[in-house]
Order: sequence, then C-alpha cells, then structure tokens
Amino acid sequence: MEQYQYINVDSSLGPLGAEVSGVDLSQPLEPEVVQELHQAWLAHHVLFFHDQDMSPTAQAQFAANFGELDQYKFMQAVDENPYVIPIVKEADATLNFGGGWHTDSSYQAIPPKATVLYAVEVPEEGGDTMFANATAAFEALSPGMKENLLRWQGVYSPKLVHGSSGFYKSEEAEENLGNSYGGDDGYAETEVVHPLIRTHAETGEKSIYCGLAHTVNIDGWSREDSLPIFRHLTDHLTQDQFVTRFKWGQGSLAMWDNRRVFHYALNDYHGQRREMHRVTIKGEKPA
Ligand code: SIN
Repeated sequence: MEQYQYINVDSSLGPLGAEVSGVDLSQPLEPEVVQELHQAWLAHHVLFFHDQDMSPTAQAQFAANFGELDQYKFMQAVDENPYVIPIVKEADATLNFGGGWHTDSSYQAIPPKATVLYAVEVPEEGGDTMFANATAAFEALSPGMKENLLRWQGVYSPKLVHGSSGFYKSEEAEENLGNSYGGDDGYAETEVVHPLIRTHAETGEKSIYCGLAHTVNIDGWSREDSLPIFRHLTDHLTQDQFVTRFKWGQGSLAMWDNRRVFHYALNDYHGQRREMHRVTIKGEKPA
C-alpha cells in the first residue's frame, strides 16, 4: 500500500504511470517531497504532472533532484541552460522527433536513467506520447524465451537514427528537424554492447531493453537474424495491456524511467506546432 504525505498520486490513467498533484515543481523541493516523488516514480515508472510553470533552469533544477544531468549529443540546448534540449515540430513540418518506440539514448555506454519532458506548446488535437511497461512485458514472455533473452547481449548504436544513413540524416528529416541532429565527430557510428534484458539498478526487476531504434543486432548474430526477435519484442511490448497514452496540456511534465519504459511520440497533428523541453538524468551501465 502506497503512503504519501506530501503528494497526491493517481494511478488510474493506465497500466503504467501516475498523475501527481499537490506539488509546484518550479520551486526548490524539500528532501521529503523528493523522496516521495522518487518512491512514486519507482512504483509507477512514469510520473505525470499538470499546470507547471517551468523555465529551462527550473526544469533542470527539478531534474537534478534525482541525479546528475546528462548532455544530449545530437541537438543544441536552449540558450538559457546547457542541459535543456528543445524538441520542436513546426506547423509546416511532417516528421517529428521520437516518433518510434525507443528508450532514450540506449546506445550510450552509460545511458540516461530518466527523462524529464516539459510541454511548452502543445497542439489542440494530437501529439500524445505513448509509454510502454517493459518490465511487465518481460514478465509476460514465456519461460524459454526469457531464459534465452537473458543470455544474449545486444549491439547498440546511434547509427540507426543519427548515423550517415540513419533516419535523422535523410533529406526530409534534415528539412523538417533542422541540422543540429548531425553529430559529425564519428560518435553517431559508434557501437556498445549491453544486455537485451536489463536488471533495474534500484528494484532488481528485469525489463526488455533492446529495441528497433537503437539495437543493431544480437551480439554474434547478423542483423537479418536479429530483426525478427526485435520486431517480436516490440510487438509484444506495445500491446494495449502494457501501454498508457498521455495527453499533454501546456505546462504538463512527465518524468520516465528509461531503464524500463519505452515511449513513442505520436505524429498526428500536422499543421499545428508542438514544443517540448527535454532534460535527461545520468544512469548506470546496463547490467
Ligand atoms: C522523446 O522521444 O524524447 C520525445 C517524446 C515526445 O516528444 O513526446
């Protein structure tokens, strides 16, 4: 039974995630409040807040309550704060950022444990984000599948999306998303090896971690042999029973656990502008 003294937590939105009220995130938070938010976050994997008024610096300060901030390599930060990345889809753009199931930057040697996303401007209709519970999805796999997945490692790389032939390097993407998606120092082509199934550093639970956006192949397998496994796991993970869909309002903020949550930014609001500010928090090497 969850007990909270300082915050209100409503977990009726869907299979994961909880809406939290009773806290103004733009102000410095007492340690007891941070502790309760952390407890609720571990319990629900994603926390959603509404009607917050966050400057970039306030957002970075809020995120820093939960760990050291990370810096994203593929986009320029806003002028006010080096840790806050603007994610913008203009009204005349066709492609969006994050429009496929993924966990953030799982190709990094030390990927971010959490993302804090704040809605600056939202379309009247559309632009929701879907979140999938990779822990429950792993639990629901058959024992033989789990046993094998636990033995295999994956090769993760930014190259599928940010590399020279990656999604964000296409002419259409560059026109839509701007040139700051580049990364010309060779980093976009690098590879790291992480488990396909990750054990959560704080709860010990296991979650599906490999995915179509960032996992190139199962270590020692060809990409052709690996893809059916990744496709199967993505189809499995994104079934309704594991997914919560969140509708943003201006001033909404979500904080999710990249170690066990996949997300997908829907691109169904052409003709309308959407602007989000994103901060990531450093994690630990996946094990
Ligand atoms: C992201 O994938 O980090 C962005 C998600 C969103 O814009 O909803």
